[in-house]
This record gives sequence, structure tokens and C-alpha cells, in this order.
Amino acid sequence: SDGLQTDIIGRKIYYFNTIDSTQNFALRLSEWPHENGSVIIAKKQTRGRGRLNRKWVSPSGGIWLSVLLKPNFDSSHTSLFPMATSLALSIAIKKILKIDTQLKWPNDLTINDKKVAGILIDASIESNKIEYLIIGVGINFQVKPSAITRQIKNQNYGVATLVEKENNSQVKLVQQFLLELEHVYNQIMSGHVSNIQQKWIKRSSTIGKNITATTTTEVLRGKAIGIDKTGALLLSKDGKIQKLLAADISYKT
Ligand code: BTN
Repeated sequence: SDGLQTDIIGRKIYYFNTIDSTQNFALRLSEWPHENGSVIIAKKQTRGRGRLNRKWVSPSGGIWLSVLLKPNFDSSHTSLFPMATSLALSIAIKKILKIDTQLKWPNDLTINDKKVAGILIDASIESNKIEYLIIGVGINFQVKPSAITRQIKNQNYGVATLVEKENNSQVKLVQQFLLELEHVYNQIMSGHVSNIQQKWIKRSSTIGKNITATTTTEVLRGKAIGIDKTGALLLSKDGKIQKLLAADISYKT
């Protein structure tokens, strides 16, 4: 049937023609009551933010949205959200557009190793409880690749874009994504995380590859052999296994 079928996510939707960043708006909303599940969508962003303090170029045509969650559980689950969100988006793209995407750790979606969507999560944790999570999603949909090449300059790979296949597929994609996100959110809440991990690994292009990982302090080369239950990447290097919590990875070694 038509329409949004979620219970929590998207109960309120804020839509803007132009905004600085949906992520920043969600940050301001997080101070208010009754905003758990609120979604902020913008036609274009003037100061879109990417991971690692990068700028995220967000011209009209693309899908730029943030989801504000105020879950009442402990912070040990936070690291699963990047994985769960990228999985939810990949499933939604497959269902609505019939396109396969690969998942690149920690949370990029790619097509033929070109980035088609990125995820940014801002979290606030106080005394081991999650105060809020802001899940930001940028999908290169209906945007000219040339308009967004700047944003991937430092990311070692090119951009891919999705195009409208039928009237309304953009709306349907957003609705499906929010539904899939609510599904993984409920799974995390109820402790069913191995399911998410297995599905993520199936769609991942990272596991089994030799990679170069750049963290804030070092550059590491090794083989990505798996992920642990928190979502950390396991890198095998000189016979030792190292856990990566946050890094930028490249398949060039
Ligand atoms: C990345 O660096 O890969 C993450 C990009 C996340 C971009 C989205 S667009 C909607 C939301 N608002 C922002 O300012 N950033 C995120």
C-alpha cells in the first residue's frame, strides 16, 4: 500500500527548500520533547557536513535527510548504527530501484566501487546512556556527477548517482528507507544484532580485501578479515589482529 508505514520514524517530518544542514537542524530539535523519530529533509543544503569534518556538497536533486532518535538504551549499541543504517539503505535501494549496492566499511554505499551514498552519525552520550542519535544520510540521486565530484576528492574513489526510474521513486525510496531503518532500530533495541551483521557482511565489499586504513593517528595496511559485534573492523596485519573503530579505508594498497 501507499504511504509511510513506520510507527516512530517519520511521525514528524520537517521539509526545507534550503537549509544549512539537516544535521544541524536535528541537533537543535534534540533539545525539545516529542521529537523521537523526527525526520528532516532538505531539497538542498548550503553547508552539508560529511564524515571527518568534510564538506558534503548537496545540490537540489539529491536526497539529504536526517533522522533524530532518542533511544533509551545504553551507549554500547551506538557503534552498530552506522552498519545498521547502511544496510537499511542498501535494502531499500534494492527493493525500490532494483539496484545492487555494496557496503564499504564503515558506512559508505557504492556501485562498482564508486560512492553513491554516505552516512554521518552524530551522537550524544551521557553517563553511558544515549541522549540522542542523529543519523544523516546523503544519497546522490538525480544529481549530476560533476556537481558533486568535489566532495569525494579526498576519498580515493569516484561518485555514482542514482536516477529516477519512474515517477515518484525518490519518495518511495525515502519511505522504504525509513521503514527499513525502523526495522533495524527495533532489532538493535531487542538485542538481535547478529542478524544485522550477517546481512551487512553479505553485502560488504570490504571483508577479504587488502586495505589501507587511515586513522587520525596512523596509516595501516592489512587484510580486512571481519567485524566484531560492536561493528569494529578486524584487520589482520603481520599475524596480529587489530581492531579499527574509526578510519577511512581504501582498497588501494
Ligand atoms: C559522508 O561523509 O560520507 C557522510 C555524508 C552525510 C551527508 C548527509 S546529507 C544529510 C545530512 N546533513 C548533513 O549535513 N550531512 C548529512
